[in-house]
Amino acid sequence: MRHFLTLKDLSSQELKQLIKRAIELKQMHKADEVYEPMKNKVLAMIFEKSSTRTRVSFESAMIQFGGGSIFLSPNDTQLGRGEPVEDSARVISSMVDMVMIRTFEHEKVQQFAHYSSVPVINALTDDYHPCQLLADMQTYYEHRGSIEGKTVTWVGDGNNMCHSYINAAEQFGFKLNIATPIGYEPKADIVAESKATLSLYNSVEEAVVASDLVVTDVWASMGQEEEQKKRERAFADFQVTDKVMAFANEDALFMHCLPAHRGEEVAASVIDGKQSVVWDEAENRLHAQKALVEFLHLNN
Ligand code: CP
Ligand code: NVA
Repeated sequence: MRHFLTLKDLSSQELKQLIKRAIELKQMHKADEVYEPMKNKVLAMIFEKSSTRTRVSFESAMIQFGGGSIFLSPNDTQLGRGEPVEDSARVISSMVDMVMIRTFEHEKVQQFAHYSSVPVINALTDDYHPCQLLADMQTYYEHRGSIEGKTVTWVGDGNNMCHSYINAAEQFGFKLNIATPIGYEPKADIVAESKATLSLYNSVEEAVVASDLVVTDVWASMGQEEEQKKRERAFADFQVTDKVMAFANEDALFMHCLPAHRGEEVAASVIDGKQSVVWDEAENRLHAQKALVEFLHLNN
């Protein structure tokens, strides 16, 4: 069974093909072409954390593909009342064609996938957010062409998005600079395992020099709400401002997975400015995940 728990579940070749397919599916959608490869198929969507983009994009994807989806929150399911993951996985996967999960521990999606009889998609865990990277890579490709050999700078927390950028650097062949405050670096084992060219910094200005893409994310992720104040102090020098963007290449793009906090991790003038492609990036969640759903459907 092929699952999509991290970007490493697909080969580099498959990922690049998937991005091309996402661009095709986007054009087909804009041309009002009806394409229903998931007719009568069902996607179960397990959300243990909040979501706007991920939920709307997967639900829309399934409707446009001729199928349907079921939104499952822990407030309403037995999973939320402690039914074992392996039992839930066996039961849910016996009735649907694909499962998408957003949760806390990465091990939970691994365990669910192990007991599932249908493909499982990681829609964000504490450790990874691979679906967002599909959209980010599509967006870069649409604006600038291939990302291979380019330099990307990650600014801020060494979090789930940062870890998926580390995987993407290896799979798509770009150089990745990572600027974090001391103590907020990405996980050492994920850095150590990576075959990508990674450079770790504790200064934003040094890291962004000669970058083609600058990316950031919130200072406190879902589940870290009580650390907000402490993190505001730790990350005070890690805002992506116009001054920071000026160190990057002139044609550098700015991305953010959203939701964003203007005045914290990014200045309003940057996220709402000319180099920002965040709205295309958000829309591309739909097209990239359609390509992913189609891929998993055809390859299982
Ligand atoms: N970027 C992202 O995954 O957004 P949501 O939390 O709104 O799904
Ligand atoms: N790092 C953020 C991403 C949200 C899409 C979080 O996990 O909350």
